[in-house]
Amino acid sequence: MRGTRIQGRQVELRPLARSDATALDRILRDGQVTRFLPPIVRRETGTQFVARVLDGRRRGQGVPFVIVPLGGEDAIGQVRLFHWSRETRDAEIGYWLRRSAWGRGWATEAVRLACGFGFRSMRLHRIEALVLDGNDASRHVLEKVGFRAEGRCRQSERLARGWVDELRFGLLRGELRTGPQV
Ligand SMILES: CC(C)(COP(=O)(O)OP(=O)(O)OC[C@H]1O[C@@H](n2cnc3c(N)ncnc32)[C@H](O)[C@@H]1OP(=O)(O)O)[C@@H](O)C(=O)NCCC(=O)NCCS
Repeated sequence: MRGTRIQGRQVELRPLARSDATALDRILRDGQVTRFLPPIVRRETGTQFVARVLDGRRRGQGVPFVIVPLGGEDAIGQVRLFHWSRETRDAEIGYWLRRSAWGRGWATEAVRLACGFGFRSMRLHRIEALVLDGNDASRHVLEKVGFRAEGRCRQSERLARGWVDELRFGLLRGELRTGPQV
């Protein structure tokens, strides 16, 4: 499944393309963006990220989007559903935005739009998100969309500053909150 263009009030999602690599590369070079991301993403260039994620899409493992400002074309971030199981009808969500776009509610709207797509078009029953302890902005985004905290995986990731807990969030079909941005 490739995904389609989805319009919100402030941002649009459009299917990730190979040509997004340069814009995403610029974002991934910002250590403030990558510090809470999984180790594989912290090590990747934009080109490697796009190649890996598009390969996952070809294999039917997920649906990746880039986030663009309404009416724009240039990617300011990405949001994707991955680890998709058609059998258990669940998937994980991951997202990041360039720093100059933070704090405007855009990530919240992008996550909300992607979850709506997941429930509607992928027929998901459940969407999961994993957040490193201390990533309060991300946690806040999830809670605004309707995700509930479901557990703490202790010391599940090792960063330069030591072992960090990971918080697990879940959103079930019917729990997605339509906020002021949708
Ligand atoms: C997480 C991220 C996508 C959020 O983007 P954003 O543009 O700030 O998100 P929004 O503006 O939609 O919402 C952020 C909310 O968190 C709040 N927030 C921001 N920083 C915060 C902090 N340090 N502590 C508590 N709340 C915070 C904001 O006030 C806002 O809530 P509000 O609308 O009630 O005021 C962005 O910070 C990012 O790309 N971070 C790096 C990558 C990342 O961590 N991705 C998620 C991995 S799980």
